Amino acid sequence: MSERTLVLLKPDAVRRGLVGEILGRFERKGLTIEALELRTLDGETADQHYAEHVEKAFYPPLREFITSGPLIATVLSGDTAIEVVRALIGSTDGRKAAGGTIRGDLSLSNRENLVHASDSADSAAREIKHFFPELG
Ligand code: CMP
Repeated sequence: MSERTLVLLKPDAVRRGLVGEILGRFERKGLTIEALELRTLDGETADQHYAEHVEKAFYPPLREFITSGPLIATVLSGDTAIEVVRALIGSTDGRKAAGGTIRGDLSLSNRENLVHASDSADSAAREIKHFFPELG
């Protein structure tokens, strides 16, 4: 079943010049780019996006990082895209993520882990609406 998912290429991906590498992996997999925008998040937008994490100890430095420069927000679509994208990016901690995944190959950090992707159909709907309200 075709699904949409919200993906952020975080400020570390832009700073490190990895946007083409990461988007290329999604494109080569067969996913379709439905929307794409370069933007810098303000603190309020970050808090809304990470609402489930705002009380956690790791959130203040995460907020600092995610607002530290431009990121790429994109909506990808394809068959079971939510699960497929999560598999391509790998587990949260780049030091532990499996080789062959984006984080496993390209990140050495638990915070600066290059990519965010929606983790469920509910979060995809909420996050897509938040970043691209025109897509519904
Ligand atoms: P993401 O998939 O965007 O979801 C929440 C983010 O919080 C996560 O990627 C990491 O960037 C960050 N994060 C999660 N757990 C930790 C942690 N223990 N320490 C630092 N950052 C974390």
